[in-house]
Amino acid sequence: MSRRLATEIAGLKLANPTMLAAGVLGLTGSSLRKVVEAGAGAVVTKSLGLKPREGYSNPTVVQVDCGLLNAMGLPNPGVSHFGEEMREVKETGVPIIVSIYGFSSEEFAKAAEVAVNVGADALELNVSCPHVEETGAEIGSDPELVTEVVRKVKNKVDKPVFVKLTPNVANIVEVAKAAVETGAEAITAINTVRAMAIEIETTRPLLANKIGGLSGPAIKPIAVRCVYEIYREVDVPVIGCGGITDWRDAVEFMLAGASAVQIGTAIAFKGLEVFKSVTRGIDAYVRKKGFGSVKDIVGLAQNF
Ligand code: FUM
Repeated sequence: MSRRLATEIAGLKLANPTMLAAGVLGLTGSSLRKVVEAGAGAVVTKSLGLKPREGYSNPTVVQVDCGLLNAMGLPNPGVSHFGEEMREVKETGVPIIVSIYGFSSEEFAKAAEVAVNVGADALELNVSCPHVEETGAEIGSDPELVTEVVRKVKNKVDKPVFVKLTPNVANIVEVAKAAVETGAEAITAINTVRAMAIEIETTRPLLANKIGGLSGPAIKPIAVRCVYEIYREVDVPVIGCGGITDWRDAVEFMLAGASAVQIGTAIAFKGLEVFKSVTRGIDAYVRKKGFGSVKDIVGLAQNF
């Protein structure tokens, strides 16, 4: 692996700037380990809460023309049951970011504490799930609620805190600033875009939950715009997420201001090989442009 690719996010050392996005292959130690072996610079777990949660009934994921539509309902075994899974990934030495959610700031703080106890190197606060009531985007649309969640989590744990934001708000920059002013060490932008699809013969919504979140190529320009706008207003790393399918997408996010990129939906279409092809492509681009490090291209599009 080329030294040009090495980077650092909030003190976490990444061999390259790709990460597994929350929600895909993130519920077991063995699947997370496969992602590490495929070349990801860091991995993010599926969002975990204080208690086990079944999630919605099927169908929870459907393919649409321009990506995937999902509404799983935050199924997970509960963060305290995740220790065993973590052990398998910890051995690799690759940073593990545990995504957590809660139905109140107190729940977020307790889940954060447990996540750190089971081995999280950092936390990603999911204040952006677009369809589960009383959590996710209902919290992440309100800068005051985000402030309260980040404050309570920061008071409880001593690990880097990332906040994953929803694009389903009027002003994402305002929310990012609230998170950073309260101590968030990185911002992940963006979670899925609230969306739905209907099967015209049966007249039924395709997802059991009817409304879900859209990911994949369709949302990339929205995500790039969010990264671009947030980067200029905060002084912590921004992690880009949303429709990264090849190295060109990753470079585009980095030029907008992303220090690293998260990949999720592309795994469904391209397999885990996507991590190696994206990192190779970024490396070749950085070299061709005459830079010594991937860090040198972060935010270059801001100069125009
Ligand atoms: O349905 C889900 O578990 C999705 C979560 C999210 O979008 O954050």
